This record gives sequence, structure tokens and C-alpha cells, in this order.
Amino acid sequence: MLMVTGANGRFAQATIRELRQLVGADEPIAVTTRDPRSPAAVRLAAEGIDVREGDFDDPDSLVDAFAGVRKAVIVSTMAANDQRFRLHANAVDAAQRSGVRHLVYTSFINAGPEAITEHSRLVHFPTEQKLKSSGLDWTILRHSLYAETLLDDLDRTLASGVFTRPGGRVPAAYIAREDLGRSAARVLAEDGHEGRTYSETMTSALTGEEIAAALSEAAGRPIRYEPMPSAAWPTYFASVLGLPVAMVGSAEHTMRALEAGELDLVTADYASVTGRQPTTIEEFLRTRVPRGPMR
Ligand SMILES: NC(=O)c1ccc[n+]([C@@H]2O[C@H](COP(=O)([O-])OP(=O)(O)OC[C@H]3O[C@@H](n4cnc5c(N)ncnc54)[C@H](OP(=O)(O)O)[C@@H]3O)[C@@H](O)[C@H]2O)c1
Repeated sequence: MLMVTGANGRFAQATIRELRQLVGADEPIAVTTRDPRSPAAVRLAAEGIDVREGDFDDPDSLVDAFAGVRKAVIVSTMAANDQRFRLHANAVDAAQRSGVRHLVYTSFINAGPEAITEHSRLVHFPTEQKLKSSGLDWTILRHSLYAETLLDDLDRTLASGVFTRPGGRVPAAYIAREDLGRSAARVLAEDGHEGRTYSETMTSALTGEEIAAALSEAAGRPIRYEPMPSAAWPTYFASVLGLPVAMVGSAEHTMRALEAGELDLVTADYASVTGRQPTTIEEFLRTRVPRGPMR
């Protein structure tokens, strides 16, 4: 049996969609979620997926959740960075106790003990180490920034004709979440990925100006890039999301990392896993940005 954790999440759903296509009736698929009564979980159950309750913050729930599974994708959680490693360690321990043989974990590019990106340093690198010392087979999927993060403030970008981000001329790596679901499903369904770390990126890293040019092409009118200091990002980002600044404070570290070039990475790992090229920024934006005059 194959498993994906966190079935209500968008990445998890992209992975499950692809996995169903890949394995068909060959092997059963199970998922965990904190909320098996959510519409997404109910729909998956109706489609024949074994939906199990599992919360990384409730270790007792996890041993049953992983029962009978040979290989699982552990989707990194959305929680405070000082809590997430503990949650992931609970999941690794429970999987081990339940007899899971191979864990796949969703990390972040250039995760390391000295990373500027807070979640790379506090969450992903320690989780990678935990996996590597677990005695289980492991595969690490180091995701770059989701291309979807460029759409968080799309309404403002379109209303002002200005795309603003920290970074200036320093490029950063992006990739579409749907693509990442495709590669995670391949790694889960196929053999031969044991002991591998894949850093998944588009075929080029992008500067703010390049993203603005792609936005202009997609919108059919000029959108210019304006740099923003990383220190200003949490206030801007919180206002876009309608959240208190304290809830997005760690995003400043990610933007500082971007400014310092920590997210400037291009690899061919996505193509080597999936046998196809990742979606380009132009293709990605073309289907998501409305064309037409200023709104
Ligand atoms: N590379 C990037 O740019 C980027 C951006 C944003 C996030 N991320 C990371 O990638 C992950 C997937 O992204 P997404 O867009 O799919 O996020 P999302 O839609 O917000 O999903 C959040 C995920 O976290 C799971 N989760 C939260 N708390 C959990 C817990 N206590 N135990 C088990 N699972 C828990 C949820 O599962 P259930 O609700 O089903 O339990 C769900 O799968 C995020 O959780 C985050 O770690 C990466």
C-alpha cells in the first residue's frame, strides 16, 4: 500500500491525483488527514481511497494511520517553524513503528544547518537528518518556491501594474505545485529513488524583471518590477493575506535568503524523475492571469 499524508492540502491532492493515474488498480492507496470529514477527504473515500485520520501532533493516531503501508510521502506541515520538526519527527517515528519501509519527504531547496531560510534551517534540514538516521529507505524532494506564491498578490499586481518582490537582480527558483505532485507520485509509485535527494526547479531561475515580463505577456499589458526590501515583506504580505504581521514574520527570512542568492538554483532533477520538462513560467501564468485592460 502507498500513502500520502495531509490529504486536504493542495500539494497532497496534486500528488494523489497523479498517483491514481499511475498505479490504477495495481496497488491500494491510503491517505491521512486531520479531518476525514472534510469535503476533499469524503470525495477521496468515495473514489476508493483508504482515508485514515492522522495528526502529526497526536502520535497515538499515527501508528494505526501508517498500518500496512510500505511507502509513504510525508508532506511537510503548515505550522509554526518552532513546532514543525517535532511534528515531522513524530511521523517518522510512527512510520517506523508501523513497519513502513520507505519514506519520501517534501523539503526545501538548499536546506542546511546554516540556511538563511528559517524553515530550511529549523524544519527541513533536521527532518532530512532524522530520515537519514531512521534506518528506513528515504527520498528527499527539495521543492523550490511554489510558482503559486507569485499569485498571492495578483489582484494588487494587476490593479497597480507593478509586481513587487525582494531580490532585485538576484534570481530565485520556482516550480508549479502541480508539477511537484507529478514527481512525488512518480517517486512513490516507482522503485529506484532510494537514498536520493532531488532539488526540483524550473529550467531557469527567475529575476523579478523576468517574472514581470512573463506577467505582462500573460496579462497582455505592461507590468513592471519594483524591488522591495526584505524587511518590508512581512507587512506587505500580511496585508495581502489579511493576517497579523506576526503570523507571516518568518517570510522575511525566506526573502532575505532570496536576496542573498540562497534560492538561486537550477537543476534537471524534475526532468530526470518525470521524463518531462517542468512547466515554464510563461505556461504557468498564461492559464492563471486574466488578459485585458487594467482592472
Ligand atoms: N515550496 C513552497 O513555496 C511552499 C509554500 C507553501 C507551503 N509549503 C510547504 O509544502 C506543504 C504543502 O503545501 P500546500 O500548498 O499543499 O499547503 P496546504 O494546502 O496549506 O496544506 C497544508 C498541509 O499540511 C498538513 N498538515 C498541517 N498540520 C498537520 C499536522 N499536524 N499533521 C499532519 N499534517 C498536517 C495538511 O494536512 P490535513 O489538513 O489534511 O491534515 C496539508 O496537507 C505545506 O504544508 C508547507 O510545509 C511549501
